[in-house]
Amino acid sequence: MPLKNTERQFGFITKLCHWLIFILFIVQYFLVYRREYFPKDAPEKLQYILLHKSFGVIVLALALLMLVWRHVGRRPAYDNSMPHAQKCAARIMHLLLYISMLVMPISGITMSQLGGRTVKVFDWFALPNILDKNKEFSELVYYVHLYSSYIIIGIVSLHIIAALYHHFIQKDNILSRMLPFKKI
Ligand code: HEM
Ligand code: HEM
Repeated sequence: MPLKNTERQFGFITKLCHWLIFILFIVQYFLVYRREYFPKDAPEKLQYILLHKSFGVIVLALALLMLVWRHVGRRPAYDNSMPHAQKCAARIMHLLLYISMLVMPISGITMSQLGGRTVKVFDWFALPNILDKNKEFSELVYYVHLYSSYIIIGIVSLHIIAALYHHFIQKDNILSRMLPFKKI
């Protein structure tokens, strides 16, 4: 499998970022919601949120790499037979997905720093604190984080439905060229 994207399929780096981000999104939702099942002062609560923050920063790094990598190689072309409206819809959808992958971690980091907390990535390193403590603003950003997390479920669901529609109804190679071990 080539490292870079080619005219026909996505390369190794794009596929790796794409599927790791997908897995990490599921892990992120699991961590914050599973936390609710522990009693108020249980140590697991803190552990889960620390993991949530660390994985969130990893999502940000992967999303940035995926975005940069998009401009290193070429993007696999769509078939000429695909209607213009469908190509436009795909572009808008991908833009929304990229925004989602950035908004979630950036709002998370902003909210934590405004709340006066340092963001650590596991025990490896801490992000520099570039924002001064501001409780009210931190609360506002929390709502951005919360409502974005709901909107993203809708966006990703549409994206998955579109991918499955291409694969099973239109029977084209749109899904195959993003699958991890598929050679087309
Ligand atoms: C892909 C990235 C991320 C996703 C999908 C995500 C998703 C979520 C979701 C669904 C919630 C639950 C909101 C609620 O019901 O209260 C939440 C809460 C939270 N997230 Fe994230 N998040 C991400 C990244 C981050 C990052 C990078 C940080 C900080 C460095 C962060 C910090 C927090 C905090 C502090 C909470 C509030 C927990 C509480 O209720 O005390 N998140 N996140
Ligand atoms: C958190 C979940 C996901 C996110 C954030 C996400 C994000 C993205 C982004 C940003 C792209 C555009 C890549 C580019 O052209 O630069 C993309 C492409 C793609 N994704 Fe996802 N994705 C997710 C989950 C999935 C899942 C579960 C599937 C399969 C069922 C899937 C299938 C695809 C396919 C087939 C493409 C290529 C579409 C095309 O060539 O037009 N994605 N995804």
